Amino acid sequence: MAKEIKTIGVLTSGGDAPGMNAAIRAVVRQSLFRGKRVVGIKRGYAGLLNEEIIEMDAKSVSDTISRGGTILQTARCMEFMTPEGTQKAADVCLKHGIDAIVVIGGDGSFKGAQRLAGLGINTIGIPGTIDLDIACTDYTIGFDTAVNTAMEAIDKVRDTSTSHERCSIIEVMGRGAGHIALWCGLANGAEEVLLPEKYDFDEQRLIDQVVEARKSGKQHYIIINAEGIGHSQSMAKRIEEATGIETRATILGHMQRGGSPTCKDRVYATTMGAMAVDLICEGKSNRLIAHSGGKFVDFDIDEALAMEKGIDEYMYDISRSLV
Ligand code: F6P
Repeated sequence: MAKEIKTIGVLTSGGDAPGMNAAIRAVVRQSLFRGKRVVGIKRGYAGLLNEEIIEMDAKSVSDTISRGGTILQTARCMEFMTPEGTQKAADVCLKHGIDAIVVIGGDGSFKGAQRLAGLGINTIGIPGTIDLDIACTDYTIGFDTAVNTAMEAIDKVRDTSTSHERCSIIEVMGRGAGHIALWCGLANGAEEVLLPEKYDFDEQRLIDQVVEARKSGKQHYIIINAEGIGHSQSMAKRIEEATGIETRATILGHMQRGGSPTCKDRVYATTMGAMAVDLICEGKSNRLIAHSGGKFVDFDIDEALAMEKGIDEYMYDISRSLV
């Protein structure tokens, strides 16, 4: 017989992402709607180990849907990933009567959810990362807001780049994944996108293209560089030296992780939050919610973590053909 779920916990883990609050709000309110007790776990798995557990009611999530960041705070926790750490976390759950946990985060956070599920705590994952680097889903909480924030910033850089007839390198987030860079490349009509998944370190080709573009009458040359490639400042220096064209680097950084979530992030995060609670009430565990094929669906976390995600090849091709 499936165990009775009386108390549901919710935590955010890994890098924060706009829309996480909308998901927390939905978990809290849907839990209450389903007659469950709901607790917030502060600072991700680190807070679970430290028993930073707070009672949540409908009011605790008032006025949060439009706010960026996460009201529960977030952390990356190495201790939790050890067998002793995971066991301690499961013991804390038992002590506080937490039967199930909704984990909002990225792949690393889901590995934690997987381990807790193995120790009898029902877990449901919700994809929350601006990087869009979770294989089973075409949507992750925060990506839409992050690319819109970056797109607006890049438009502004482009204005001044055109006025000064410069080459501009704009570095966007994404240590291991180039989705933000690729989307900005298309949204901003950049001349070049450099993605960790694709970059061949052929800087001479880049330099030749900057020169060619200037000869053909282009007033600026926008290069979107992903954080995973990095070195934007030194790259700018080398391009300027080789081409004689003034080149500046702008690193957008953590501004991409903040701000009020877009409508899409609010609505998708809300739907995923409510769905997580519904799955828990159906007795499900070790599942990851995804948006795939135009629908909200759920996958076994083991299967989801075994999937691989690449860059959309067609989008990458046209980022090069439409310049
Ligand atoms: O959350 C994803 C992300 O923003 C990546 O794009 C980036 O590489 C990383 O987190 C930065 O992490 P931190 O904020 O810990 O420097």
